[in-house]
Amino acid sequence: MTRVLITRRLPDIAAKLLRDAGCDVDIIDTDDPAPRPLLLERVAGVAGLLPTLSDRVDDELLDAAGASLRVVANYAVGYDNIDLAACRRRGVIVTNTPDVLTEATAELTWALILATARRLIEADRLVRSGRWNGWQPMQLLGLELSGRTLGIVGAGRIGTAVARRAPAFGMRVLYAHPRANERLERELAARRVELGELLEQADVVSLHVPLTERTRHLIGPAELERMKPTAILINTARGPVVDEAALLEALRAGRIRAAGLDVYEHEPRLTPGLAELDRVVLLPHIGSATERTRSAMAELAARNIVEVLAGRPPLTPVEPPAGPRKNRANRHNAR
Ligand code: GLV
Ligand code: GLV
Repeated sequence: MTRVLITRRLPDIAAKLLRDAGCDVDIIDTDDPAPRPLLLERVAGVAGLLPTLSDRVDDELLDAAGASLRVVANYAVGYDNIDLAACRRRGVIVTNTPDVLTEATAELTWALILATARRLIEADRLVRSGRWNGWQPMQLLGLELSGRTLGIVGAGRIGTAVARRAPAFGMRVLYAHPRANERLERELAARRVELGELLEQADVVSLHVPLTERTRHLIGPAELERMKPTAILINTARGPVVDEAALLEALRAGRIRAAGLDVYEHEPRLTPGLAELDRVVLLPHIGSATERTRSAMAELAARNIVEVLAGRPPLTPVEPPAGPRKNRANRHNAR
């Protein structure tokens, strides 16, 4: 029987769909990432692999899987954990889970925007501490969003979904993206600007680019310097897009107001000092963590495997099928 490995405990629908399609499904049934040696052992001889964003899919893992491997269906929209060239060399198809997590991630982004602007976590800590003595005119004053500017860095699916919620809060939208996003311009009168201008004008800067060699440390000391001292930085994309040491420095020096982070440069490790700051909200990479979305991701990943193993095209490949080259620019799109 065709073997498929699921590298982590996921919603049951994934294994069910694969078994219904006749696959022999092996699950590393733990909540934490599998130790590498275990992963290398269990992957041997599989035809389909369903990894998570914390599993590195590289030459070593692909060699351990062997020539039987035909499809890697990442349980994430981002696929920076996968060496695409190494997969391509072996004719292994790679898929991701776009669309199904767009709304959930946009909602979490707004939760972070509100939590940082209105200092929700600090406020909660104060109440729980028993040190709250009642209402004060000058207590926990935050940033009012109404009338302010939201800067979207990377206006792909998630960036667009975040932007579309801005009018509900009375915010204007600027965006930085390689191409014009007609929907944003038409629906929101959003303006496309260079990153530098966005950083100078936005009151909230929200990152929605994929992690690539071009976006690594996209936000470093110089970029933080260009932001308003009253501005907030939000990252629900990938940690290494921000130089975390530079961010810590900027927050300590008061060069920006606050940061809301769902992802970290050295996940799950934090840059020492970050957790001591009041003006940061730190979430454990839960952008897509709703019941509905995680099930939809499981279903989509499994269906991608079923399709490829049945000899049909994948539903959501990360690259166009081999053949005439499409315009390369597509691959650098924001997620
Ligand atoms: C999560 O970070 C994802 O890329 O789906
Ligand atoms: C997520 O699905 C995105 O493409 O932004």
